Amino acid sequence: MPRRQVRTPKQPLDLNRYLLVTDRSRGEFVETEDPDSAQPRRFQPGSEEDVLSQETFPDVPQTLSSQTLFGDDRPLEIEVGSGKGLFLSNECQRCPETNFLGIEIMHKYAKHAAARIAKTGAENARMISGNAEPLFRSRVPNGSLEAVHVYFPDPWWKKRHRKRRVVNETSIRSFREALRIGGRFHFWTDVLDYFEATIELIAQVAPEFGVPIPEEKQDSTHDLDYRTHFERRSRQNQIPVYRIRYEKRR
Ligand SMILES: C[S@@+](CC[C@H](N)C(=O)[O-])C[C@H]1O[C@@H](n2cnc3c(N)ncnc32)[C@H](O)[C@@H]1O
Repeated sequence: MPRRQVRTPKQPLDLNRYLLVTDRSRGEFVETEDPDSAQPRRFQPGSEEDVLSQETFPDVPQTLSSQTLFGDDRPLEIEVGSGKGLFLSNECQRCPETNFLGIEIMHKYAKHAAARIAKTGAENARMISGNAEPLFRSRVPNGSLEAVHVYFPDPWWKKRHRKRRVVNETSIRSFREALRIGGRFHFWTDVLDYFEATIELIAQVAPEFGVPIPEEKQDSTHDLDYRTHFERRSRQNQIPVYRIRYEKRR
């Protein structure tokens, strides 16, 4: 007889309920070097794109809403650039009356975040593997969201790369359209230049957001008690973090 109780092997997590993919993240790219050729791009065997093209996660619905994603009418909050999903996996448990959707462009992180949510067993959070920008432009109904969260977006330091920033003129307009009146836009970063540029841009292109409201740092009670992984990293390295939220007024 074994001295220790024999453990049942861990079941692999079924991510199908938690992860949706866009056409692009499914790997249906066309060859870009020769636009006249209709050949699908060949991926390096074993590369992330190659693996993706063989996965069968469900498609993102044409409209992103609580009804289409969760089959209910609870308020919906979207996080752009969820990374490894710490915010979503904590927040969906803290606020069971709200639905949460994370959009993450890097498939391996989207999958990681979906697995983190799946482990909580929560039914009110999902991940999309894909680019948030076109999804906001064409699939999120106007005035439908309770909140948009952007935490520690990639800084794109070089001036000529600034347009690649996740918070830019186009996305600010999209967030403004997508939020209901009274809805919130949370923006945290450790890059002072990004912080200041965002405040300036919002004042110019979305005065409906009113003035920025400072958000306070919360004391953490355990190792993963931070808003996101990047907040944890910044605070543990004594890097200042700039936190604001806006509330759409009209
Ligand atoms: C610096 S990380 C921060 C991750 C997380 N928010 C945190 O604070 O720990 C920025 C994330 O945004 C993702 N991202 C960048 N552009 C994106 C886009 N257009 N749509 C969705 N995700 C994007 C990146 O892949 C990356 O995971």
